[in-house]
Amino acid sequence: MKGIMSKPVSIGIDLGTSGVKIMAVTKDGSSVAEASASYPLFTPHPGWTEQNPTDWLEGTKSALKTLIPQLEGKFEVVAIGVAGQMHGAVFLDAKMNVLRPAPLWNDQRTGAACTEIEAAIPRLELIQRTGNPAVTGFQLPKLVWLRQAEPDVYARVRHVLLPKDYLNFALTGVIAADPSDASGVGALNLASRTWDTDILSALKLDSSLFPTVQPSHSVVGGLSDTWALETGLPAGIPVVAGAGDNAGAQIGLGVSSARPGVGSVSLGTSGVIVVPLEQPIAEPNGRVHLFCHADGGYFFLGCTLSAAGSLQWFRDTLAKDVPFDELMLEAGNVASGSEGLVWMPYLAGERSPHLDPNLRGSWLGLSLAHTRGHMTRAILEGVAFSLRDTLEVMNPIAKANKLLTVGGGTRSSLWQAIIGNALGVPLEKPALEEGPARGAAILGLVGAGLYANVATALAATAPQSALVEIARDSTLEAAYDNFKHGFAAVKGFSNSSNQTGV
Ligand code: XUL
Repeated sequence: MKGIMSKPVSIGIDLGTSGVKIMAVTKDGSSVAEASASYPLFTPHPGWTEQNPTDWLEGTKSALKTLIPQLEGKFEVVAIGVAGQMHGAVFLDAKMNVLRPAPLWNDQRTGAACTEIEAAIPRLELIQRTGNPAVTGFQLPKLVWLRQAEPDVYARVRHVLLPKDYLNFALTGVIAADPSDASGVGALNLASRTWDTDILSALKLDSSLFPTVQPSHSVVGGLSDTWALETGLPAGIPVVAGAGDNAGAQIGLGVSSARPGVGSVSLGTSGVIVVPLEQPIAEPNGRVHLFCHADGGYFFLGCTLSAAGSLQWFRDTLAKDVPFDELMLEAGNVASGSEGLVWMPYLAGERSPHLDPNLRGSWLGLSLAHTRGHMTRAILEGVAFSLRDTLEVMNPIAKANKLLTVGGGTRSSLWQAIIGNALGVPLEKPALEEGPARGAAILGLVGAGLYANVATALAATAPQSALVEIARDSTLEAAYDNFKHGFAAVKGFSNSSNQTGV
C-alpha cells in the first residue's frame, strides 16, 4: 500500500439506497479511484421499504476490494469517512445482532406512530427542539412503531443505529453517531446537539438506546483487523463519525454554514434545495427540514418528491421510447407558461413544504390546443414552482443568494433556465458533482489531521463553479400565480377523493 512517494488519500463511502459508492480522495479534493456495488431493497407490504444491514456490509466490502488494488504503490490510505442514507433504523440486541431488516428513509408505515409522538410532545414544541415535526420517514417513529407492532422484537432491542453508524460499528467495533445524521432521527436537540431526554422520557424511551453524538470529522475508532484482512486496508486507520448523505453532499460541494447565502439545488428523482444557516432557527411550522450540518452549523432542506421523477413517469407512460432530448426540444418550442397548462408534481404525495402524503399529481387547464411539448414544458415548470414554494418558506429565515445546481435534470439548459427564473436566484454549475462520498472523504481528511478543521478543508476543496447564463423571463411569475391557485384545488381533491393507496 505504502510506496516511496505515496500520496495520502482518504476513502469516502456513500451508503446509498440503491448501492454503495466509494472513492479515494487526495488532500486537494481530487478523486483518484472509484468503485461501487449494489444491494436489494425489499417492499414486504405497500408503503414499506427495508434493507438487510448485512447486505450493506457485504456491498461495502466488495467495492473496497475493487478499489484498494487501484491505489497500490501510489497512495496511502490515511482515513475512512462514511456518509449514508438518512433516517433508517437498525435494531440491535445486547450482542449487536441485527434483530430484523432495517426500515428505510422512504418507508411510510409510521403514520400512527407520528400521531403518538405528537400527542406526547406538542408539534410546535417538537419543531422548536428538533427542527422538525414527527415525519413518517424519520427513525424515532420507527422505534415507536416497533414497540407497538413487534413487541417481542422491541423487548430485545438495546441499540438503534442509523445505517452509516451501523457500518461504522462494523468497521471499528465502536458505536457512535454524528450530528448531521442524528438530526434526522427526530429526537436530537438541535441547539445542544445531544439527544433530547425530555422528548425521550415523554415517549418512555431509554436514551441509552441511542449512540453518543460526536462531531462529523472526529475519529470514532480504528479499522478492525477483520476488515483490514478482508479488504487489504491497513488495520487501525482512523474512521471518522461521518455524515448523513445530504450533509455529506454539501461538504462535497463546498456549501458551508459560514457562507449562509450559498446553497444548492439538486434535480434527481426528487428535487432538493439546501440553504445553510449558522444557528438552528426552525421554520415555525416545520414545513422544511432543519438538520445539523457536518461543519458545526445547520441547513434547511426542502424536498419535492417527484422532480426528474415526474419527467421519467411521463416518458415511461405517455412517451415511451421518445428520447429525453426530443421531449426537451419540443418543450423548448412552447412559450413560457405552457399556454396556461399547469403541472402539479405530486405523483408520490409531497414532502416540502406541504408534508402531505395524500396529495396527487395532475395537469390543470388542458385544452385541444395543447401538445406533448406543452405537457413536457408544464412538467418542467411545475417542478420549478414546487421548488419555489419551498424556497419561499425558507427565505424569511435563511435567504439564498446563490444556488449550486447538481443532479441529472440540470443537464438540460432549458430546465436550468426555468428553475433559475422560477426561483429568482443566480445559479452556478460546479465543475464536480461527486456527492456524498467526496464529502465523507473530506471529513476523513480532517480526521486524519491533513486539515485543522472542516472550514479549512471546505475552503481548500470546494469545486470551481461557473455562473449559469439565464435570459430573464418575466412571464413565469404569472404562471406561478396560476400554479398556487391550482394547488388549492388539487389539495381539496386529493384529500377528499377515495384513494386506493397508490
Ligand atoms: C433526506 C432523505 C433522503 C435520504 C436518502 O431527508 O430522506 O435524502 O437521506 O438518501
